[in-house]
Amino acid sequence: MESPHKPKHLSSTFFFLFIFISSNLVTLFISTSLFNPCALTTTRTDNNAITTMVEKKLFDEEITRNNDGGEGEQDLPDEFMTLTSPQKLPFGVNPNSKSDKIISPVGKPCTLFPNELKRFMSYTVNGSCPDDELLAQRLLLKGCEPLPRRRCRVAAPETYVEHHPFPECQWSTPSDSSIVWTAYTCKNYSCLINRRKNQKEFDDCKDCFDLQGREKNRWAETIGGGLDFSIDEVLGVKKQGTIKIGLDIGGGVATFAVRMRERNITIITTSMNLNGPFNNFIAARGVVPLYLSISQRLPFFDNTLDIVHSMHVLSNWIPTTMLHFLLFDIYRVLRPGGLFWLDHFFCIGEQYEEVYKPLIQSIGFNQIKWVTGRKLDRGPDLNEMYLSALLEKPLSHSW
Ligand SMILES: *[C@@H]1O[C@H](CO)[C@@H](O)[C@H](O)[C@H]1NC(C)=O
Ligand SMILES: *[C@@H]1O[C@H](CO)[C@@H](O)[C@H](O)[C@H]1NC(C)=O
Ligand SMILES: *[C@@H]1O[C@H](CO)[C@@H](O)[C@H](O)[C@H]1NC(C)=O
Repeated sequence: MESPHKPKHLSSTFFFLFIFISSNLVTLFISTSLFNPCALTTTRTDNNAITTMVEKKLFDEEITRNNDGGEGEQDLPDEFMTLTSPQKLPFGVNPNSKSDKIISPVGKPCTLFPNELKRFMSYTVNGSCPDDELLAQRLLLKGCEPLPRRRCRVAAPETYVEHHPFPECQWSTPSDSSIVWTAYTCKNYSCLINRRKNQKEFDDCKDCFDLQGREKNRWAETIGGGLDFSIDEVLGVKKQGTIKIGLDIGGGVATFAVRMRERNITIITTSMNLNGPFNNFIAARGVVPLYLSISQRLPFFDNTLDIVHSMHVLSNWIPTTMLHFLLFDIYRVLRPGGLFWLDHFFCIGEQYEEVYKPLIQSIGFNQIKWVTGRKLDRGPDLNEMYLSALLEKPLSHSW
């Protein structure tokens, strides 16, 4: 067995990692501070301000390290070092990687948050993991993604109650006993279902758990024309049966995937667990949740997916540079002829003309539908607007 001891050269590795990180991290830091899909941030931070913010953060971390009396990896928890140290392959050089070692990946920024990382990686090996979903998600949203693996058993309900069988599961509420509720304000599903009525504060996807409410008719038909395309209208632009698999980015409780499943189309739904057990709920409905933030490279190979959909998530809260990378990533995973349904992208009127319209149109998609409309839920004075677009990756190679 490979020894988990820290190789000497790692201290310099971590030192470089630490120095090297600042340029790449700009967008991740911003995403952290703004991570709130529906909270509109209209202030456009200029690049200098961003850099200063990152430098300050790095500087603060540096001070913390020095005060702890440690340098480099000495601050990092042992279990983290064990995980991330290169491990020798038992059969020597692997012809595919051309290396005799393998290293477990973690998000590059993980080491920037030594205190949270220490808490996250402190547990008894082969024991129970701490019940720390909130800490884990915060770390991940700051850019420590993927999170480090742990060698412990994750918190689970004392007595797990299995889900309803298919197909009832698609439109029914699972048992409260299938969830560890620690991380959420609500402690049961009826609280989540009623929170639109009972709760004043904002929450992401506040009324989504109520499957008898607005969820019931989403994408079922073209409501009011304009911005709300229906699934059948969208599928109708391609030859019957050629849209088979796809991805919904930030898909709430995965009603899109459930609807698509009814049409024999397999959709994977990415979601965070922002004050609700979204991933468990999606899984309970019989479709696949993927716990992945919008910062990470999509875990699909080039030219593979038939459709990518995203509603309300891709919007002006995402730093423009990150959005640019993200749109190219969507272009990458779509197969030629694949569809990108950008559903209710929102921003301020001026931003649309100056930033987002040119940005989205520059990626190289064919435009099948392009509809804009005003967003009035927070009043007309804010001059907010929506864009719904149906875009297609060109069939023939043109770049
Ligand atoms: C690991 O934990 C399991 C379950 O508690 C226990 O049965 C087993 O003996 C432990 N193994 C070691 C090597 O401690
Ligand atoms: C659900 O939680 C709410 C408060 O969060 C509580 O008032 C209510 O009694 C709970 N309902 C059930 C069925 O446990
Ligand atoms: C889905 O597939 C099943 C089994 O192949 C078939 O019976 C059904 O008609 C299909 N449904 C649709 C909407 O295509």
